[in-house]
Amino acid sequence: MNMPKLKISSAPKVNEKTVLVLAAVTDGNKIQPANTVFSSTLFADSVFETDLAPVGASTEAEALVRVQLPSNQGATILTAVVGTTFKANPFSSFGSSWREIGGAIARKLSDVESIVVDFGIEDPTVLAEVVEGLFLGAYEPKTFKTSKSKFALKQITVVSNLRLSKAELNHAETVARAVHATRDLTNLPANHLHPADLAKAAQKAASGIETLTVKVLDEKQLIAEGFGGISAVGAGAKHAPRLVHLSYRPKGAKKSLALVGKGITFDTGGLSLKPAASMLGMKYDMTGAAVVLHSIIAIAQLEMKLNVDAYMCIAENMPSGSATRPNDVITMRNKKTVEVINTDAEGRLVLADGLSLASESKPDLIVDVATLTGAVTVALGDRTAGLMGTTGGVIAVEDAAEAAGEPVWVLPMPIELKQSLHSEIADQVNAKYGASGGTILGAWFLSEFIGTGKDGAPLPWAHLDIAGVADNDTSAYGFTPKGGTGAMVRTLINLAEGM
Ligand code: BES
Ligand code: MN
Ligand code: ZN
Repeated sequence: MNMPKLKISSAPKVNEKTVLVLAAVTDGNKIQPANTVFSSTLFADSVFETDLAPVGASTEAEALVRVQLPSNQGATILTAVVGTTFKANPFSSFGSSWREIGGAIARKLSDVESIVVDFGIEDPTVLAEVVEGLFLGAYEPKTFKTSKSKFALKQITVVSNLRLSKAELNHAETVARAVHATRDLTNLPANHLHPADLAKAAQKAASGIETLTVKVLDEKQLIAEGFGGISAVGAGAKHAPRLVHLSYRPKGAKKSLALVGKGITFDTGGLSLKPAASMLGMKYDMTGAAVVLHSIIAIAQLEMKLNVDAYMCIAENMPSGSATRPNDVITMRNKKTVEVINTDAEGRLVLADGLSLASESKPDLIVDVATLTGAVTVALGDRTAGLMGTTGGVIAVEDAAEAAGEPVWVLPMPIELKQSLHSEIADQVNAKYGASGGTILGAWFLSEFIGTGKDGAPLPWAHLDIAGVADNDTSAYGFTPKGGTGAMVRTLINLAEGM
């Protein structure tokens, strides 16, 4: 992974190869109107005033132009000017942040070897966010193209009199590496990432971390140990299913967190086959598993004092002579029976087994992450994840997401929607044609597999439906590239940190 080096300096050396990044900002959040002063501490002696409007510079967020500015210290410096206007939205508390600006800079200037970012940053929060964003945006996607990538970014210098400690810089870099690794894994096409490959990727990622153990169950063990959901979903595929259990056990930990991820390496819908256009992008259906994997890796690397388990529920959903049929009844890990109405509602079947297994050790909090329903995109668009669960679980995840700046929205679980899960022949169905509130129905289904605590109430649990946010199929923005986004990794890391 090509993560550039990042340092903070009050007086960095620049040369003709450096691209100096200025912004239409003087201090803190105060934004100068377009075409006035673009100041740089590097030019402290003579803060130059240049009317940049003629070259197209603007304070619009992410507007970036490269201009040749007058020479300084004998060198002509190519300067990039980035606009930083925060667009106020009175209807949402989510919006642009310094992370997004840092991200846009690193992304848009990734063809440059060395950049010096000089906004006159004097606020520690701004500095931390810009640094985080720069790391998140400095992402080189892995492709199968035979031509060479233009990615060249090796050195980022942020100009400030403030400092970040070594630990703070390491934290930001570790988190960004986890996000990048998630993007890499989710971008892999399904013919390059079969269930066994995803399990191997987990073992490889965890190798060398002493506090982290990995256990992989293959298709035979899955059947022997009662994982009827994962086995049924994987039944139609030539490439057999897997369950990966990663376990992080640091010294002196008291609390415990369980993460469960949907790992469908490709979702054709199974015998309830998807139409051709809806199948596009279904390589991303393993994103939940990738998110929990790289979250637990970062949690372990950051040596957090908390017991964490991650369960990756992995299968390929294919139609074939051995595939699960509509109306089949299957028995899940927790012994409950399910009538499969729609084989395309497969995510909840694999997660049910993962949630049952996670519940067996009664953790303090269970969080599942899944590209579960197209309906969540209908409701919330493709940049906001749906959040459901028990009150305590939902609040914990909502707070962590807010601190990470990752948009989530809580959907209710009104009891009447649960009725759609009634089956004549089994404990419940997995889906119902024509049912409304599809995202919520998915959550109600999953809730049946959350074990109970000492008081008989369900264990604290949160369900993140990331069908919308897992991949970005429009164009890059802020620190988010096209393709896999790595969304919710930072939320889960924050969540663990808070515990
Ligand atoms: N993987 C899909 C959900 C999905 C859809 C993710 C679009 C990303 C983009 C999931 O397995 C699925 O097929 N869900 C069905 C549920 C239905 C059959 C109850 C859906 O959303 O239509
Ligand atoms: Mn499906
Ligand atoms: Zn799916």
